[in-house]
Amino acid sequence: MLNTVDVRELHREVTEWRRYLHQHPELDYQLHNTARFVCEKLASFGINHIETGIAETGIVALIQGGGGDGDGPTIGLRADMDALPIIEASNQPWSSTIPGKMHACGHDGHTAMLLGAAKYLASTRNFKGTVALIFQPAEEGALGGLRMVQEGIMDRFSISQVFGMHNEPGIEVGKFAICDGPILAALDEFDLVVKGKGGHAAAPHETIDPVVIAAQIILGLQTLVSRSTDPLEALVVSVTMLKGAEAFNIIPDQVEMTGTVRTLVPSLRDFAESRILACAQGTARGYGADVELRYRRHDPVTFNSAAETKLAVKAACRLVGTGSVDQKVKPQMGSEDFAYMLEARPGAFILLGNGATASLHNPAYDFNDEALLYGIGYWVHLVESVLAP
Ligand code: NI
Repeated sequence: MLNTVDVRELHREVTEWRRYLHQHPELDYQLHNTARFVCEKLASFGINHIETGIAETGIVALIQGGGGDGDGPTIGLRADMDALPIIEASNQPWSSTIPGKMHACGHDGHTAMLLGAAKYLASTRNFKGTVALIFQPAEEGALGGLRMVQEGIMDRFSISQVFGMHNEPGIEVGKFAICDGPILAALDEFDLVVKGKGGHAAAPHETIDPVVIAAQIILGLQTLVSRSTDPLEALVVSVTMLKGAEAFNIIPDQVEMTGTVRTLVPSLRDFAESRILACAQGTARGYGADVELRYRRHDPVTFNSAAETKLAVKAACRLVGTGSVDQKVKPQMGSEDFAYMLEARPGAFILLGNGATASLHNPAYDFNDEALLYGIGYWVHLVESVLAP
């Protein structure tokens, strides 16, 4: 698949990088060692345009193609670099050396694969235009992707299309999955406070019991999906945390609940926000109580544009054959902050088979090194076909 380099040697080397990164996980924006490692490797490949310190520890590096007259568009390839606050239980010889931190989402693999592709592309340069390698911090809930966009990487590096990739346990190694349109959901979070009147649990008639009202509200919220949303449109409303009094014999003044909304349809975010408030307020006021809602929008829908999805499918099919690329994978209700880059530029996000490993964010998870060459091969085919000289 990769002609001019020794593929076995590349695999050995990238596996070594991946395991080094796995042993040294870092969180959020605090990726100083990881960023230093990435920069050292990029420089050793002869890449001399490397910009660091974007969104604190993010990096963008440019590789100029050798084909054509030197002109051509710039496409962005993105890898995330951060780990998770999880105690590792994979029992691998290359397990985390940092207690309480672990690469449980395979971002070690994503970083290593983009480095592998960088090494190959920097040595062959069999394309026109420019490849922008985007190494991003803080994918896991701290909006690193958004910050890189806000710090202007798309305009600064004239990026016209962006592509992302994530490993997926449960898909065989050597297979890919993608769909056009929404592939991952938007992620919102809400806090709802039910304000009643507390008192002694033995005298409920002297209180306005917010616990009973909260119970009614939670049941009522279930009708947002079942009775108020088109059954063919995806919406999840889950209440996940509840806090009342601290003792068995006290009716609290208020109950605080927290939950999440997931949807593949952007307009349903407005709908969910307004209906959660209306439903909770109506119920609470019926009992003489009131509510307060704080609704926060996090990742938008990860939306694959049609033309770029075709390019991604073409690259994957050239690598592994049409039979190994699921072009109509069912979207998932998880989310991904690459969505912010896809809001800024058209592009596509593809899933790479990680085999029958533990699931993402599980303490027993490990990135499958057998998948490394497929990820590298995908990046290389994508660049060489989108930027064909
Ligand atoms: Ni991830």
